[in-house]
Amino acid sequence: MDAEALETEAQSAIASATTPGELDAARVRYLGRGSALKQALRGVRDREAGQVLNTVRSRLERALAERRTALDRSVLERSLAEERLDISLPGHEFRRGRLHPITQIRREVEEIFLGMGYEVVDGREVETVHYIFDQLNMGPGHVTRSPLHTFYLDDGVLLRTETSASQIRVMETRKPPVYMVSLGRVYRRDTPEPKRYPSFHQVEGLAVDRGITLADLKGTLQLLLRRLFGDQRAVRIRTSFFPFTEPSVEADVECFICGGAGCRVCEQEGWIEVGGAGLVDENVLRNVGYDPEEVSGFAFGWGLERIFMLRHGLPDIRLLWQNDLRLLEQF
Ligand code: DAH
Repeated sequence: MDAEALETEAQSAIASATTPGELDAARVRYLGRGSALKQALRGVRDREAGQVLNTVRSRLERALAERRTALDRSVLERSLAEERLDISLPGHEFRRGRLHPITQIRREVEEIFLGMGYEVVDGREVETVHYIFDQLNMGPGHVTRSPLHTFYLDDGVLLRTETSASQIRVMETRKPPVYMVSLGRVYRRDTPEPKRYPSFHQVEGLAVDRGITLADLKGTLQLLLRRLFGDQRAVRIRTSFFPFTEPSVEADVECFICGGAGCRVCEQEGWIEVGGAGLVDENVLRNVGYDPEEVSGFAFGWGLERIFMLRHGLPDIRLLWQNDLRLLEQF
């Protein structure tokens, strides 16, 4: 066998292989078990001939390995070039959502009370007459018990008209002291109007402890009013009536339209009500097994939509339920 001629032929086959498959075919042909070189090596009798053939073999192996590396690199380079991603193109912009203004107010109020050591509790939107009316000292003749005012789902089961029932549920399950707020939706059988909507949100607050007085209530409400409306807005607290508080008060904020002079929005009052409050009625304390001789408390219930309207001068509550992005994107 002519080792030189064989090597020339093999080297040129290796060099001209353009794919890993072709290269492998050359390897089998020139270095495989049935190849002329292997057969010649097997038949070698003298040392010198063996050395020549072994040198040829190792040169061919090196050439194969080099060609393989080169082919692999060119395969990689080709796929890098062909599958190139042009990351310089601007992508599709995702529209970023935002929290609904009422959710923002809700979180803001929660933060204010968490900061004062209150706990935030969940209430139930489906409630019973027992928790919404009886336990809150609203007797059988109370006007909101009527199906004309309230959505009943079943006998004695209704969509809550206020968040106040969460006070009862919390007090029933623990001993004083209690400092809690509960925020969520309430439902009333009202026709949508600029200041009314059949569903809206309230924040309910309750503090029961030894020696709680009206001064604690006033301080807490004033702090809340200042945090929500700023120090410049005039606020007032006046007497009112709720069946579950005695005495009862209502908090008003200076009208955002007329600044107190009197206009159509505030019905010539110059003030707009934000919500009710008072010292928890002794009957309510007794209903949950608390002793009014030992503890006293204050409570309040404010509308979140009302807070938003007062703060931003929004004249119509219905706008908050229309999901019109032209409004929502401003907040
Ligand atoms: N529940 C009352 C309402 O919906 C608001 C309210 C007033 C809640 C006085 C209270 C309170 O906790 O003490 O109009």
